[in-house]
Parts: sequence; structure tokens; C-alpha cells
Amino acid sequence: MLSNKNIILGVCGSIAAYKSATLVRLLIKAGANVKVILTADASNFITPLTLATLSKNPVYTQYFEAETGVWSNHVELGLWADYMIIAPASANTIGKMANGLCDNLLTAVYLSAKCPVYFAPAMDLDMWKHESTQQNISQLKNFGNTIIAPNSGELASGLVGEGRLAEPEEIVSFLIADIKSGMPLLGKRVLVTAGPTYEAIDPVRFIGNHSSGKMGFAIADEMLTLGADVTLITGPTAEKSANKLNRVDVVSAQDMLDACNAYFDNSDIMVMSAAVADYTPIEVAPQKIKKNDSDFSIDLKKTTDILASLGKQKKSGQILVGFALETENEEHYAKEKLKKKNLDLIVLNSLNDKGSGFKTPTNKITIFNSDMVKTSFETKLKTDVAKDICAEILKLTTK
Ligand code: CTP
Repeated sequence: MLSNKNIILGVCGSIAAYKSATLVRLLIKAGANVKVILTADASNFITPLTLATLSKNPVYTQYFEAETGVWSNHVELGLWADYMIIAPASANTIGKMANGLCDNLLTAVYLSAKCPVYFAPAMDLDMWKHESTQQNISQLKNFGNTIIAPNSGELASGLVGEGRLAEPEEIVSFLIADIKSGMPLLGKRVLVTAGPTYEAIDPVRFIGNHSSGKMGFAIADEMLTLGADVTLITGPTAEKSANKLNRVDVVSAQDMLDACNAYFDNSDIMVMSAAVADYTPIEVAPQKIKKNDSDFSIDLKKTTDILASLGKQKKSGQILVGFALETENEEHYAKEKLKKKNLDLIVLNSLNDKGSGFKTPTNKITIFNSDMVKTSFETKLKTDVAKDICAEILKLTTK
């Protein structure tokens, strides 16, 4: 789960800071890239050298290192991180984080980070119980940060109670379990098609359509976020895909069919959002066709309906999702396609809806399942539409 993940570990001034050495080791052993930020007080409890050696990275303590002249860019660090852990999180740092203060590198990186943030408090029992600490913690949770709760036991003060930093092993297990819970498609193989297909007429001309590929790329990205192994088969498009997915570029409907057939057997979920050409020239001219004075026509033959052919081969347990782009009798045609092509879900777009269709950043969809239950959605950004589609698919995987 943590392999190749970028983790920032923020360490605050607390006696529990000594445990951060073990925590760094465990994260590194789990395959993560770790960068450590120490507050000024934290360096009194554990040396930067220890953590730099264990993390195999320089340790950051301030914005500007006077001796070396090195400036630590908090925004860059914040954006580098896939996860940020603050352990131990002192009452002071928790208070700053809850109130938007950023008078040191750690809190400035926290404010700049876009990734999930975990904080593991460590403090004496009365500081822990104090209303202001508890209020700050609720505020941090409201902001979407996740607490790794402290343990009860003997504290550095000699008092016994709640406030002991969770053990490094517990922190790592918590982190892994939490990441897993947000990835319900872990271990599932998903095939997504996207974009148009181009059907060659001669070496310089083709029959194509206006599909941008945006919808399919957004679905592929969302499937990745849900933990799936994603193969994205795409026609010609300017869209960029995440490195983590397996991208297969194709041109024609026949290429797309061949690629789908190659991945079909090993796929658990298939989402066919490509705008595949229904017809292709019977013959492709080997040389550029020259114009003359008469009219010109091209003889076309039908392409294979990829979705329908996968529907025929579908095995029990596989989930097949198709799209329908309609301009009239929308629901009737969508339901017909759902049945005819043996689909589990169909996503209907109507070109009559404003903010729907090709090249727009938004889409308005209606989904039917195989029981013909209809779910309608508002016009949304395609990235949010992708979340809705994947959520409907998830419901089928947990059935
Ligand atoms: N599709 C496909 N292969 C084709 C044509 C379409 O896999 N040769 C898939 C699309 O990826 C989409 C679905 O079929 O998921 C519906 O495409 P659409 O163009 O709306 O419908 P068609 O089935 O082609 O029917 P029609 O053009 O008559 O509306």
C-alpha cells in the first residue's frame, strides 16, 4: 500500500519524538519515500542526523538554512506528499493547525498540502483533556484530517492516563487500513475505453467524431483512486492520462476491438465510453485520393459493435457498462441498448441537455441498471460525473 508513496512526517516537540525514528524505519521498510520536517523543539528530542540517515533524505527544520543558504519550499513539499503524518502532534501544533497559523515550516507545509493528513497526538493527560485541545481536534477532524488516537498508559510526567503517542507499528497499520478502506476496488481489474475512433479513407483523410475522451479519462482516473488496476484503451485524443494506468492507444474501431478482446478475459469491470465509429470505409485508398469534377462517395461497411460483442462473451461476475448518446426518445433507446447488449448498467447522455455531450467540461447523465431502475443526476463536471458512475458500479460489486 505504501510502496513508492511520498510521505511527509512532521515531528513536534514532545518526548515521544524518539519514536519517530522507528516510525521512519517502518515507513521506509514498507517502500515509502519519506521526508521529515522537525519543529525547532523537536530537534531537542531527536537529532536531524538520525532521521536523515533513516529516511535517506535531508531533514527539514526551517524555511531557510543560514549555513547552507538552502531555502525549503513549503508549497513544493506540500504538493510532493501523497500522505502527511504528524507524529507526535503536540497540543501547540494541533492548536496552530486548527487555527491556520503557520509560523514554522511544518505548519506552512500542512497548510499547503492537498493530500490526506493524519495526526497522532502526544501530550500529558490534562493537556489532552483540556477543552481547547479537544476543540482544536474536532476542528481538525472537520477539516478532513484523520486522528490516530493516543493510547492510555504511563506518561513521561509519571502520571497515568490518555495521551501516549500511538506506537509506530500502530500508526503504520492504521495508515494502511485507512488507505485500504478508501480503495474498495483494490485487486479489481478495470478496462475503460475512451475517445473517438478514426476510420481511414486514404493516407491523409479519415472519418471521425467530436469525442474528446474527457469522460473516459475521468472514469479511468476515478477507478485508479478507488484502487483498481486500470487499462485505458483510447482513440486519438489530446487528453493526458495518469502514469499509474496502463494506456493503450488505438486508432480505428478494429484496433479498439482487438485491444478490448486482448484484455477482456482478465477484466472484472468494463466501462465502454468510447465513441466508436459504426461504419468504416470498405477500402482504404493506398494513395491520396485526387479530386475531379464529379461527385464523390465512399462505400462503408459496418464495424463490429464492441460493446455488444463483449456482452455476448460476458462471464458471471464480470460487470459491463455501456453508454448511450441520444437525441430523441432517449430513455427508450437507452433501455433497449441495455437489454440488447447484455449490460449491467447504461449511462445515458442526451444531446438535448445543456452542458452535455462532446468537448464540454460538464455532462448530465441518467443511469439505468439491469432491473431498469433509473437514477438521474444533475449537470456536473465530468470528473464528478465519473465519481457518480463509479459509485453506481461499486454498488454492483458489493451485491
Ligand atoms: N459501441 C461500441 N462499438 C461500436 C459502436 C458503439 O462498443 N461499434 C458502444 C459505445 O462505446 C457505447 C455504446 O456502444 O458504449 C453506445 O453507443 P451509441 O453510439 O450511443 O449507440 P449504438 O449502439 O452505436 O447505436 P446508434 O448509433 O444506433 O444509436
